[in-house]
Amino acid sequence: MNYSKMEEQYGIGVYPSREITLVSGSDATVWDDRGQEYIDCTAGIGVASVGHCNLDVVDAIQRQAARMITCAGIFANDVRARCMETLASISPPGLNRVFLCNSGAESIEAAIKLARQSTERHKIASAYRGFHGRTFGALSATHQKSYQEPFQPLVPGFEGFSFNSIESLDKVLDDSTAALILELVQGEGGVRPARQEFASAAAEMCRERGVLLVIDEIQTGFCRTGTMFASEQYDVVPDILCLAKAMAGGFPMGATIVNEKIQSKIGSHGSTFGGNPMACAASVATIEYIQREELATRAAELGNAFAEQLRRRDVPLIRDIRQLGLMIGIELRVRSTPYLKQLQERQILALPAGSTVIRLLPPLVITQSQMSQVLNELVSILTAEGQWALTRTEGILLTISAAADDLQLL
Ligand SMILES: Cc1ncc(COP(=O)(O)O)c(C=O)c1O
Repeated sequence: MNYSKMEEQYGIGVYPSREITLVSGSDATVWDDRGQEYIDCTAGIGVASVGHCNLDVVDAIQRQAARMITCAGIFANDVRARCMETLASISPPGLNRVFLCNSGAESIEAAIKLARQSTERHKIASAYRGFHGRTFGALSATHQKSYQEPFQPLVPGFEGFSFNSIESLDKVLDDSTAALILELVQGEGGVRPARQEFASAAAEMCRERGVLLVIDEIQTGFCRTGTMFASEQYDVVPDILCLAKAMAGGFPMGATIVNEKIQSKIGSHGSTFGGNPMACAASVATIEYIQREELATRAAELGNAFAEQLRRRDVPLIRDIRQLGLMIGIELRVRSTPYLKQLQERQILALPAGSTVIRLLPPLVITQSQMSQVLNELVSILTAEGQWALTRTEGILLTISAAADDLQLL
């Protein structure tokens, strides 16, 4: 049976096909339906941080499935209450009330609604090249032409600024701005970390102008960048924290965590599945595992070592290496797709981020030896004879078009 073809036939065709069918996983290894093994540097796009089929998570889901699978938010639930308490305990200072949902985009939607309701202002600022999700509110905050253009008109009141430009941000934050939504490391936009100076200035401007600071840690959260949340490394404290992806070991879940400035009224927001007991059980197990196994330190050490070794190899095709913990972006001088394909042929699964970046988001439990294998295969395909000469012209053209893109965004 060709499941890849079946999905192409019955799906609506919104995902580019990688042409393999993954059927099982354990830690950082996954297998396809022919028994082929891969090192998974995608982790379900930054989801399986505690590893595929983490035994604690499997156990928590199985036990909870036998007790109670669903429980609407109008009733309290023991596991949900514990999950909220656990999330509040790991959140930045002052953030101790939690709205639970099922995805990253939903977490952003809640943040937008809560910000407008609490401030009685309407404008939402967010950075060019950022990514906050595909529902209409989140999409309106995602200022990238390719995502937005086919779906106009979007939600009114959303304004963009150039990431890492204090001057550009200064122009959009005014007394009608409810919130600034910010990724501290732009993930989909190419693994681009905020400059410290920019992050500090953004937090300061928000404070001075009565703008709520919403930090989107949907991709960076739960130790991906080497600390529980990236905001710790930048020493900024948000008013609203948006979470999803890795928070429940692979079970669908999102959360919007807020401080005392945020007001909400009964009935003003909600979700049928939000706070589902199975998701909550999975999340508590995930967080306890992350803490017990000290995955923050592990992510920092493995990621730093990988980036350092890759830099030492001095590969001409690499333009830049950007890395925080195990969030790694390798920007090439050429398009990344052919190299992602070659990596897959060598049993390594990686992601793009924009047209020229290879993005690695492996489970944080990946072994040292798997990371070495990834490094060696990557260097091998990027330095294969003739690669540089063959791709040189494309590289020059891409440099020109990237520069043009940047100018447009300023
Ligand atoms: C930073 C960030 N925000 C929001 C989202 C949207 O999350 P979801 O796909 O769960 O809706 C993503 C997804 O990639 C993301 O990386």
